[in-house]
Amino acid sequence: MGDRRARRLSLADRSRSAAANTIPVVTAASVATTAMRSTAAGYHDVLNWDAVPKKYQILVCRGPDCGDRLHSVDVHSAFDRELKVCNLAGNEATLGLYSCFGRCKKGVNVLVREVRPNENTRMIMLMPTAGPGAFLYHAVKPDEARRILEDHIAAGRPLVEWTRRLPPEPAP
Ligand code: FES
Repeated sequence: MGDRRARRLSLADRSRSAAANTIPVVTAASVATTAMRSTAAGYHDVLNWDAVPKKYQILVCRGPDCGDRLHSVDVHSAFDRELKVCNLAGNEATLGLYSCFGRCKKGVNVLVREVRPNENTRMIMLMPTAGPGAFLYHAVKPDEARRILEDHIAAGRPLVEWTRRLPPEPAP
């Protein structure tokens, strides 16, 4: 009787210890659930995409209208000056000139575009105004360079209304 009870206890102990050493069964469903959790919340929390520095390209038109008639060189100089002192919140910007954006009556035109890692740089130079990260500002004055840097590049808030505006009527 005592032996049987002892044997029953030892069976119970063995099953308890087997349960403790159980290896979890990995199924396709559990893998999918874990992956979904990591992509939905984990990646964003861990990497904090908003904090990743962004790269921008600023192109000032130097075409016949923007350049010769409206002196876009002054706008280019203003951006050059402001880029040296303006806090871009960790983002980077390069400044250049572009031959003509084809919006000559709306100058001075300035393109600000986010350079995304997966973009084809040759295509960008052929069609700089194409793509979701491109904003072509019209009728830009030199004293507006700082606002574009602070709002668009530092704060990530493009000045959409400036992409629709028309130059002032010429004085009679
Ligand atoms: S001259 Fe500036 S857009 Fe054509």
